[in-house]
Amino acid sequence: MTALIIDGKKIAEGIHQEVADTIRKRTAAGYPVPGLATVLIGEDPASQIYVRNKIRTCEKLGIHSVAYTLPADTTLKTLEELINFLNAAPDIHGILVQLPLPEQIDEYRVLSLINPQKDVDGFQPINAGMLSRKNSTPWFIPCTPAGILKLIQSVEPEIAGMEAVVIGRSSIVGMPTAQLLCRNNATVTICHTQTRQLAEVCRRADLLVVAVGHSKLVKADWVKPGAIVIDVGQNRVEDASADKGYVLTGDTDFDAIVPIARAITPVPGGVGPMTIAMLMRNTLSAAIKFSV
Ligand code: GUN
Repeated sequence: MTALIIDGKKIAEGIHQEVADTIRKRTAAGYPVPGLATVLIGEDPASQIYVRNKIRTCEKLGIHSVAYTLPADTTLKTLEELINFLNAAPDIHGILVQLPLPEQIDEYRVLSLINPQKDVDGFQPINAGMLSRKNSTPWFIPCTPAGILKLIQSVEPEIAGMEAVVIGRSSIVGMPTAQLLCRNNATVTICHTQTRQLAEVCRRADLLVVAVGHSKLVKADWVKPGAIVIDVGQNRVEDASADKGYVLTGDTDFDAIVPIARAITPVPGGVGPMTIAMLMRNTLSAAIKFSV
């Protein structure tokens, strides 16, 4: 078997197209232009790149974006005032606070301040809680998990009853992905640093999602033949021969897994573009919900 390489970039572009078309039609009909505020605190280089890409994509699709860049020593009080202002701003439909936050800022408190109806990241505790509850519907589903589900469904639309293993339990990716797969009726196991016999658990997976930030952790013999493998890793590995001095690797041993899996996402070009596409979709959906 040779795995299908899931083209996240192409799938994301299709979503961009849909979002841009809808925005064009809605604005022509007199509805407001969707607005996204991004809040970046500190100078983490990876966060700067992520936020820049989000803003660029907004511009491309016709979403109004306002970028707030604050110093690393920003106080909770300043952030509170900014978020209160954005919660009340009529031209802002979505608020995104880029994570991680500097250490002195309590992430949970900051996320709690966001109006759940503007929480396009789906991290506000009300939305996060609703994701974990049966028979309740969050206003927004976190972007990376939503993108992962789309990528899986591009290969296998119905995942009910499938054995899913998620490695990683972060609040941004691992945990909400596990919850989302469970909501879609997969049988889900969450693995983490304390998991025993990790390789053995992985070998049970029809769907294997890896989000740990450990370059090439998952080896070929961890993968069940015919599994769908989603690699969320974006690891910068030093490489003097590369233009940038580093290469980007995933959390799986991609080349070795290709002959075994049914499908696998590449790094780059797999999950990364989907996170932004789902953010654009969530922002449009926030604007639509606000204007009904
Ligand atoms: N940091 C890494 N991924 C994300 C994301 O999807 N949203 C936010 N706000 N921060 C992140």
